[in-house]
Amino acid sequence: MSEEKEQAVDQPAVEAAEPVEPEAGCCCRCGEQSADEPSAPGRRAALAAVVGGVGLVYAAGLAYPVYKYLATAAELSAAEEKQTEISLDGADTMAPGTAMVFKFGGRPTLLIHHPDSTWSAMTAVCTHLGCTVAYQADQNRIHCACHGGVYDPKTGANVSGPPPKPLKTYAVAVAAGKVVVSRA
Ligand code: FES
Repeated sequence: MSEEKEQAVDQPAVEAAEPVEPEAGCCCRCGEQSADEPSAPGRRAALAAVVGGVGLVYAAGLAYPVYKYLATAAELSAAEEKQTEISLDGADTMAPGTAMVFKFGGRPTLLIHHPDSTWSAMTAVCTHLGCTVAYQADQNRIHCACHGGVYDPKTGANVSGPPPKPLKTYAVAVAAGKVVVSRA
């Protein structure tokens, strides 16, 4: 073995350089923190705050119509309960076999003067999906054009079709110059 080869064997091996990991927040691999840039956890928190804020606005946008619908239904129901009686001036002159629709407690209501001179009053809101029903004297029935629901014109009973319940009826009192409808 030559002298040169013996020297190479005796010298210590050069250690491999460790890779330098950049520190958080540094824009390059220099390992220094930039004063302008937030750290990675800071950016994540800011992004989460923005996403959370957008989510809140979106949820509020969805919730408002639901709230409005429920509030309106509650107001309508309260108004309905509040009005217990209504006087329909001149309704006493309605001809037999005719009907009129009026608002009672905020809801359309039917007053019917039957061919046999009796009277009845009931809500005109179909119990199926809420369409307004109509009196049909020639067929002696109350009909809902939406899905063909039929009710008895004197009792409000659901006779055929999809309506699940009868129409709510009211008391009728005929006096000179008016007809008074009230909650029974
Ligand atoms: S809404 Fe009246 S029958 Fe469906």
